Amino acid sequence: MEIVIEKAADSELKAKPDGSALGFGKIFTDHMFVMPYSVEKGWYDATIKRYQNFSLDPSAMALHYGQAIFEGLKAYRGRDNQIRLFRPQANLARMNVSAARMCMAQIDEDTVLRALKQLVQLDQDWVPRAKGSTLYIRPTMIASEAGLGVRPAQEYLFFIILSPVGAYYAEGFNPVKIYVTDKYVRAVPGGVGHVKTAGNYAASIMAAMEAKKEGYTQVLWLDAVERRYIEEVGTMNIFFKINGQIITPPLGGSILPGITRDSVLQITRDWGMDVQERPITIDEVMAANENGALEEIFGTGTAAVISPVGELYYKGRAVTVNGGYTGEVAQRLFDELEAIQYGDKPDPYGWMETLD
Ligand SMILES: Cc1ncc(COP(=O)(O)O)c(C=O)c1O
Repeated sequence: MEIVIEKAADSELKAKPDGSALGFGKIFTDHMFVMPYSVEKGWYDATIKRYQNFSLDPSAMALHYGQAIFEGLKAYRGRDNQIRLFRPQANLARMNVSAARMCMAQIDEDTVLRALKQLVQLDQDWVPRAKGSTLYIRPTMIASEAGLGVRPAQEYLFFIILSPVGAYYAEGFNPVKIYVTDKYVRAVPGGVGHVKTAGNYAASIMAAMEAKKEGYTQVLWLDAVERRYIEEVGTMNIFFKINGQIITPPLGGSILPGITRDSVLQITRDWGMDVQERPITIDEVMAANENGALEEIFGTGTAAVISPVGELYYKGRAVTVNGGYTGEVAQRLFDELEAIQYGDKPDPYGWMETLD
């Protein structure tokens, strides 16, 4: 499919932000990619154009019944000035899994990858230069058809927007304090927890706010049925190191299959570590901490890559994990992934994609 490029006029280009004040998702680049869909026409008018508002009918179905999915990935500028994307095909494949579950249109992954690369190429000056800063890429699809019937929409809008984001660890690794909730759940068996649909995030906000009020950074989610099995932490997958063994919950339908999770599994197995994907309860983790067997906990996800956990709060009790310090495996994984992402190290997995 042809991708039309309508460059913004020079007079429309925005001033680049100060690299030290980027934050997350507050600033957007000069261009975006937009591609509408209808059942009759399929995807059409694939266009890269100036970043601008949409015009949507107030009855657009995404606004009412939540047929809305998204992805999140990053472009990294290496020391060699080369811009690299981390496993973009995996994000687009996951987007089609999300689309299928939400009864939305399938994207052509090759066309979208081409559009994504052309968009980043066009706005390449927005990819930050400071180590740790990146260009966050947000492919999104919404049901744009006007109407209030509850059924799959016949029209969709796919778009990609770009946002330069600051270093997650500007002041070094900072182990986070985690609140284990047995009051709220993120996802249920048979539900939509394994896909990146907007409603999952809306549903998680109240628990996150309550945790924050208690002084905790993220929520640890337990399973919806027994409220014992660990699922995820905030918007990250979770790993434990207990008695030398690396453990992460299996993908059972209520957990998002993280691309960082998959990468961490591959790397730790290649390092010869004993790695298990198996159900793990909060009681097992608390007991392991009590008897000194719990060595590390860390989250994995695109935003932070690796996020060490220094404290857990569960049922009225706060416990320190690994003395509140970053564990050895978390640090080693962070260093390894960052080196691959910035091109400081060979990429034995073929994960990084250049823009050409
Ligand atoms: C709920 C949830 N779990 C886990 C992840 C981590 O996934 P990834 O490693 O692909 O960023 C994310 C972020 O995308 C998420 O939103």
